[in-house]
Amino acid sequence: MAQIKELTDARAWKKLEKLKKTQEKTSLREQFAAQPTRAQDLTFDVGPLRIDLSKNLIDQEALGTFAELAEEVGLRERIEEQFTGVHINNTEDRAVLHTALRYPEEKRGSLIVDGQDVIGDAWDVLHKIFTFAEHIRLGKHTGITGKKIDTIVNIGIGGSDLGPVMVYEALRAKAHEVAGREITARYVSNIDPSDIGEKLKGLNPETTLFVICSKTFTTLETLTNARIAKKWLLDQLSARSVEKLDEAISKHFIAVSTALDKVEDFGIDPENAFGFWNWVGGRYSVESAIGTSLAIVYGEDVYRDFLRGFHEVDTYYRETEFSKNAVALMGILNVYYTNIWGAHSHAVLPYNQYLHRFPAFLQQMTMESNGKTIRADGTRTLIDTGEIFWGEPGTNGQHAFYQLIHQGTRLIPGDFIAVANPAHALHDKGADGSENHDVHELFLANFFAQTKALAFGKTREEVVAEGVPENVVPAKVFEGNRPTTSIMAEELSAEVVGALIALYEQITFTQGMLWGLNPFDQMGVELGKVLALQIYPAISKNDAALSEQDSSTQGLIEYYRQHRKK
Ligand code: F6P
Repeated sequence: MAQIKELTDARAWKKLEKLKKTQEKTSLREQFAAQPTRAQDLTFDVGPLRIDLSKNLIDQEALGTFAELAEEVGLRERIEEQFTGVHINNTEDRAVLHTALRYPEEKRGSLIVDGQDVIGDAWDVLHKIFTFAEHIRLGKHTGITGKKIDTIVNIGIGGSDLGPVMVYEALRAKAHEVAGREITARYVSNIDPSDIGEKLKGLNPETTLFVICSKTFTTLETLTNARIAKKWLLDQLSARSVEKLDEAISKHFIAVSTALDKVEDFGIDPENAFGFWNWVGGRYSVESAIGTSLAIVYGEDVYRDFLRGFHEVDTYYRETEFSKNAVALMGILNVYYTNIWGAHSHAVLPYNQYLHRFPAFLQQMTMESNGKTIRADGTRTLIDTGEIFWGEPGTNGQHAFYQLIHQGTRLIPGDFIAVANPAHALHDKGADGSENHDVHELFLANFFAQTKALAFGKTREEVVAEGVPENVVPAKVFEGNRPTTSIMAEELSAEVVGALIALYEQITFTQGMLWGLNPFDQMGVELGKVLALQIYPAISKNDAALSEQDSSTQGLIEYYRQHRKK
């Protein structure tokens, strides 16, 4: 591949460096005062999402410069390569086509990549999943004793867990709206035996279905947990004197993988296996068959809405000119904050309890994608890459770490996410019983207040005017100019959740392309996995293996040996 040009040599980059200097001389207060239409000018509708960029450290001109930068680094071409199946995952020589998983079915046959009708094949698997999900819901596929399945245990890790569990939690309020009966799910990921130990507690083996999710079907954690689950099921059923145990696995285990041969070797009926393809990266796979647990729990209609949300954002990203393309602009903003303003991390703050796993999900998507020093052409980056994404739902975070965002020395751009309609419309009469507060409005007041406080702060004069003692005044001043993006939607529907995921996927892509990375491999997770297998014999059994370890590792293992209770 041709050598990647340095981002910092781009003409538009120089303009952005100047923009920062201009921004430092002004403030968001002044900018809002000078441009009454600022909020309107910098607010965008992206599918079902309303995105307000106006509280960022940019001016109107910046959008044009961001667009120039995007053109200069070839983002338009990279986007087309992504959507049309060029092998942009160059280290693994693979196309990157999660976007093909969410095209409407009418588009079958319109995208042939490496000889495969990727949209058609995706829909064939979807139909198989929808049918299976319906059979579970209607009780056509039961447990071995004929009882209906009421609990799903999804076993997977990384992309085979974080997406499904995040969406499962996000849509909990929908559970009662779905036709038929409520099915619950539990998600097991960790090889820490406490995880599966806890999740199996209280389960009825006769009504539990295990979904083993693993793209490769080789992941140590997942296969270990799957074997534990298999043994647990057979032990439990035989303790109940259930007959025909040889049929139990086909009734109680299904699998999702790209390696269907390995699924069969594990003993799962190929009829109960749902495939996907190596052009779907693990962290980009929630809407592939990896989402099977979601299709079972929430049903086909919700799942179709979910896919629609993704596709709306994909289409917007691909078709909108850069200066008005909020998705691309958010990605470029992140690079601007990282490399021009020196930001290291990015807070994601959903004002919605159902999104409590969203920051964890984004951590894999963003950090496994762009946490890289070596660029796609094999050269070393000269600038920082990979923001650290983190967060917690508001208002909990307000009482924990917001202090640092408001008054700390670091610049931390934040994305605030909220919906207009709550899943639970509750009211509270207040301390004296005289009011009738809409609790969701009290909650949203915080959402609005935080971005306002971060943007506009509180001046020394304002603090003094409150009669604050002089010695305390400096501590009570808020500098403001702390950048935030506000994202709103009508309600936390499946469509909105799909749109949010696609939004961050494409933001991550934009950042990766600006930095010249390949966001689609994850070589950095390999070394630890290999070493764990090498170290394992040293832990309890093999003194020779122990003596081969470095002195720190030896010391830690010796501590373990001394303290492990027999
Ligand atoms: O170790 C990282 C990783 O490869 C992730 O990229 C992936 O999502 C996860 O492991 C699980 O992999 P698999 O789905 O193949 O079990």
